[in-house]
Amino acid sequence: EKINIIGVPMDLGQTRRGVDMGPSAIRYAGVVERLENLHFTIEDSGDIKIGKREKAMEEPLYNLKNLKAVSEASELLASKVDEVIKTGAFPLVLGGDHSIAIGTLAGLAKNYKNLGVIWYDAHGDLNTADTSPSGNIHGMPLAASLGIGDESLTGIAGFSPKIKPENVVIIGARSLDEGERELIKEKGIRVYTMHEVDRLGMTRIMEETIEYLKDRTDGVHLSLDLDGLDPHDAPGVGTPVIGGISYRESHLAMEMLAESEMITSAEFVEVNPILDERNKTASVAVALMGSLFGEKLL
Ligand code: ARG
Ligand code: MN
Ligand code: MN
Ligand code: MN
Repeated sequence: EKINIIGVPMDLGQTRRGVDMGPSAIRYAGVVERLENLHFTIEDSGDIKIGKREKAMEEPLYNLKNLKAVSEASELLASKVDEVIKTGAFPLVLGGDHSIAIGTLAGLAKNYKNLGVIWYDAHGDLNTADTSPSGNIHGMPLAASLGIGDESLTGIAGFSPKIKPENVVIIGARSLDEGERELIKEKGIRVYTMHEVDRLGMTRIMEETIEYLKDRTDGVHLSLDLDGLDPHDAPGVGTPVIGGISYRESHLAMEMLAESEMITSAEFVEVNPILDERNKTASVAVALMGSLFGEKLL
């Protein structure tokens, strides 16, 4: 089996510097070796080219920072992901901030009619320019992929929407903006907040998620934002939120996904080595990839 690694050194979806070095940090933490040990054939496609940050004075007035560069990178990434799928390899995308999911999902959606998405995150990333408190596009990729928001984000790859609200499961949410809560209610999106993680436990959440997505989808993408984990376990992220999913719960989730054999693509985002402690967060990302791809003792 083949895995194709696509690096996306994107930091324009938010304002903290350093997350563009995420792909390097994850490679440095040994992703290729880790997956080769599981007998996969790894091809590393290198990094997608990212444009320039807009100066504050050039910023447009519509609450979408670096819109042009983000949408251009999304087009490039969409084409790359589509190309990788057509070679029969599993696309493994390394971020970069979470705005890159716009491009990843666009490329995937060319190949799946009913793509399922597991959004493992402290946040919903369901904002639009109208609801965003920050204007940061990394808070908008799930909305854009559902066809909600500015045309330059929803229209990547020439079609919209990329995914359906009933095919999405959010896990780990604990910081949702008002507009995001409304959208979740309006669209009936399935969300397991930290309340459910505490109350039901990760085992039941993953059983339900797998059961829910199994029959309705023709592929399932895992979009894992490292800030879904507790900052104690993943400190190298730009928007940490206390009270997150533990390291062990996260491994359990990945192991159950491996057993389900349901995941057809994945991305690991928001690793920021500048904010990290001795590359801990990139190492956690690589360890979780190990579990996702079937590394389990006995
Ligand atoms: N909800 C906040 C915003 O829209 C934070 C988003 C954080 N997103 C992320 N991918 N880390 O600005
Ligand atoms: Mn997040
Ligand atoms: Mn996110
Ligand atoms: Mn702890």
